[in-house]
Amino acid sequence: MSEDLVTVLDGARIMPVLTVRDPATAAPLADALASGGARCAEVTFRTSDAEQALKVMAAHGGLAVGAGTVVTPEQAERAVAAGARFVVSPGYDEEVVAKCRELGVPVVPGIATATELMRALRDGLDTVKVFPVESIGGLRTLRALAAPFPRVRFVPTGGIGADQLPGYLAERAVLAVGGSWMATPAHLDRGDYPEIRRLTAEAVRVGAP
Ligand code: 3PG
Repeated sequence: MSEDLVTVLDGARIMPVLTVRDPATAAPLADALASGGARCAEVTFRTSDAEQALKVMAAHGGLAVGAGTVVTPEQAERAVAAGARFVVSPGYDEEVVAKCRELGVPVVPGIATATELMRALRDGLDTVKVFPVESIGGLRTLRALAAPFPRVRFVPTGGIGADQLPGYLAERAVLAVGGSWMATPAHLDRGDYPEIRRLTAEAVRVGAP
């Protein structure tokens, strides 16, 4: 039976977005995120080792791990085979959405306009990523997009940092906030897991009820 996104996220309001270049960093990264209180994470399909990293992080057990930057149905298949419990895409692609349905995995496609949002609604979705939210006007744009669609939940992502986080989390329409600021490739290159843990814990605190 397929789960829906709200069930998978289970109240998590912070979605660390990860670009893992070295799969050896995946296990300590999962530890740092989980010990910082994160309950989910998105591993982007931007590196050749993303699948391996996703596998390791999914096996960690402490996080609901999804795949991000999924732009083809074939990537969605590989992501789910690697253990992804949800699929995130930067844009709206009917074939990716249809494949995720077939696989029984929740999909969060990216939208940046009302037209794209209406396409998602027509396809039966009720949760979308707004991407790249800070570049397209940030909170003001999110509010304007949300107003005509009161039942839609949003996952704003793109350019958000700790400073913008409280504003997004305060929006009723926001299910969760995504971003890479808690665990950047630079943190991973330095092996700075204490800082990943600290930034994650700070974000999770802001998102706590
Ligand atoms: C994504 O794929 O969701 C974004 O790259 C995350 O955006 P950020 O790196 O600006 O947080």
